[in-house]
Amino acid sequence: MSIPEMSIPWLALQLKFMSMQGSSFLRNFGSQAKMVYLPLENSASSRFVGLSIAQPHTLEEPVQSVPFNKALITNRELECIGEAIANGHLIGDGEFTKRCQKWLEHQIGCQSALITHSCTAALEMAAILADIQPGDEVILPSYTFVSTANAFVLRGAVPVFVDIRPDTLNLDETKVEAAITSKTKAIAPVHYAGVSCEMDTLMAIADRHSLLVIEDAAQGIMATYKGRPLGSTGHLAALSFHQTKNIVSGEGGALLINDPSLLERAEIIREKGTNRSKFFRGEVDKYTWVDVGSSYLPSDLIAALLWAQLEQADHIQQRRHGIWQYYDNAFANLEAQQIVQRPSTPGDCQQNAHMYYLLLKDLKTRTAVLAKLKSRGVQAAFHYVPLHSSPAGEKYGRVSGDMAVTDDLSDRLLRLPMGGGMTLREAEYVVSVVLEVLT
Ligand SMILES: Cc1ncc(COP(=O)(O)O)c(C=O)c1O
Repeated sequence: MSIPEMSIPWLALQLKFMSMQGSSFLRNFGSQAKMVYLPLENSASSRFVGLSIAQPHTLEEPVQSVPFNKALITNRELECIGEAIANGHLIGDGEFTKRCQKWLEHQIGCQSALITHSCTAALEMAAILADIQPGDEVILPSYTFVSTANAFVLRGAVPVFVDIRPDTLNLDETKVEAAITSKTKAIAPVHYAGVSCEMDTLMAIADRHSLLVIEDAAQGIMATYKGRPLGSTGHLAALSFHQTKNIVSGEGGALLINDPSLLERAEIIREKGTNRSKFFRGEVDKYTWVDVGSSYLPSDLIAALLWAQLEQADHIQQRRHGIWQYYDNAFANLEAQQIVQRPSTPGDCQQNAHMYYLLLKDLKTRTAVLAKLKSRGVQAAFHYVPLHSSPAGEKYGRVSGDMAVTDDLSDRLLRLPMGGGMTLREAEYVVSVVLEVLT
């Protein structure tokens, strides 16, 4: 089991145990436990980043396998979780929850941020806040994760699938207006691979038709559109801190609220439909059931882990950008020879090194590259199976226009390993296997 494969809270508790027991952790795990040092970018020195239960690659060992996702976990996560335990506040809305929310509000510039136990939870909250009713329609891409659609289907709405742009793989804003009917309530653009959708155009369309915009910014933290962080433009937005994302808390997410009139109800929905948040702030003398809601508030232990990650966000981002840029340079020649297409970022967007993907010639080529990578121990992946042609998509949704770009690109997209904990040597290994099979 390696760090990316196990649950981070579990890891953190193991590490806490280790710090309490001193060297007994190393004795318990024997030769399985190792100090992990990662090389610093542009430097001969290395930095202690934590402990791995599995054997990590040392500088001497040849790379023989590369996990799909390797988060950067340091002993800071452990310290913060220990602090949360010492505070005796294990339920939600504790000190770490508040710190994380302030950080997000400051960094993203949103009116309010409420952390949740997943991006899925934040999207479900957004659907309730948007007052989505049975029969309403919500416009979204088919090329997305199921949660973007499910959140609305749970309220009885019909997801209306619109095709994506061939350059960014984001909702094609030029096709959105044709999908609007008298039943349309909201647009849910997804910022694929941390590259922004064309937000000004989408907001103008929403304005003209009195629709809400709910940004699915699951992959979008630390990315910008015209200098504005993703999640700061739509009426509502959802972030993910799932282990595969840039900033991780194992499972985790946040609802970002840019329309202040929605904040009070959002707090209630997150607290099982009660006004408990008001009670804790001393604004009411008892709390009671006031609206629909569910349990969307994470424990302060999760917030503690998230806080440690947020503190290190710049460092994590620097490392991810190093790997992303390495891949991008390494594949420039393949693109020049029209063997692959590299990711493209519009000039007014700053991507966040969330994902590195290649668009290959066809499905057959992708299958061959994936097989070769697998045989060499590299965990690569394809991405979304389009929702419009999935069993639930056909049952609950409808398509607007054709899905030519979605159908074509989803067959050809290959995702390469990425993560703040990944080393340049691992990236070199991945590139060497890809080049071997494609040249
Ligand atoms: C676009 C998109 N939306 C929503 C989600 C759901 O995020 P979570 O796992 O935090 O619920 C994901 C997760 O990968 C995603 O990529």
